[in-house]
Amino acid sequence: MSRRALLQYLELLKQSGVQQLFLPATALPDPAEKKATLARLAQSYSNCQKCPLAAGRINLVYGEGNPDACTMLIGEGPGDNENKTGHPFVGPAGQLLDKMLAAIQINRADIYITNIVKCRPPQNRNPMSEERLACMPYLIEQIQIIQPQILLIMGLVAAQSLLGTTASLSWHRQKQHEFLGIPAFVTYHPAALLRNPHWKRPAWDDLQAFQKYYQQLC
Ligand code: URA
Ligand code: SF4
Repeated sequence: MSRRALLQYLELLKQSGVQQLFLPATALPDPAEKKATLARLAQSYSNCQKCPLAAGRINLVYGEGNPDACTMLIGEGPGDNENKTGHPFVGPAGQLLDKMLAAIQINRADIYITNIVKCRPPQNRNPMSEERLACMPYLIEQIQIIQPQILLIMGLVAAQSLLGTTASLSWHRQKQHEFLGIPAFVTYHPAALLRNPHWKRPAWDDLQAFQKYYQQLC
């Protein structure tokens, strides 16, 4: 990890209220061990009360997919269907996401899918900055365990939360970023594409750029 990535990471942890750090002596290379660790953590956070989003929770939506994934896809937060089922991206936006992935020959089971916040914001409003920060250690932990090579960030809220930026989605889309030293691509959130189908064309451009990188690395 570069010095910049390390500082970004430590700053995020500090803002999230983390006061102590322990670093694992070794990575967790074994996929079965990663899977078990993720399952154990998901279970241990299921009653998390660190932010007000706990109040609307039916199920914590921790994330799911390949514990050894080369790509981690990061959305904003659970919606109604996700809250009811405990699985990420299973409603209409999730169905569009599956089609977008299929168009670039990626199967949902190959990647790991999660969100910035693990509990549903009321009426699907954007998660507030305190909520995003409260939940951030869980995402960072997932990244440390899975050790993806590429991040695909869906939508402006997720992009701004991770990259600490305030710029527009088009600014984010046109650049390649890094989060914790991992190359990160930003594209439209599938829910935004459902509302504005004319964004599907530029989203397709993003996905093709992402696919090129994915094929090289994964
Ligand atoms: N939108 C998201 O950002 N994440 C989900 O899991 C579902 C819808
Ligand atoms: Fe905890 Fe995250 Fe849910 Fe907030 S959104 S209660 S921090 S799991």
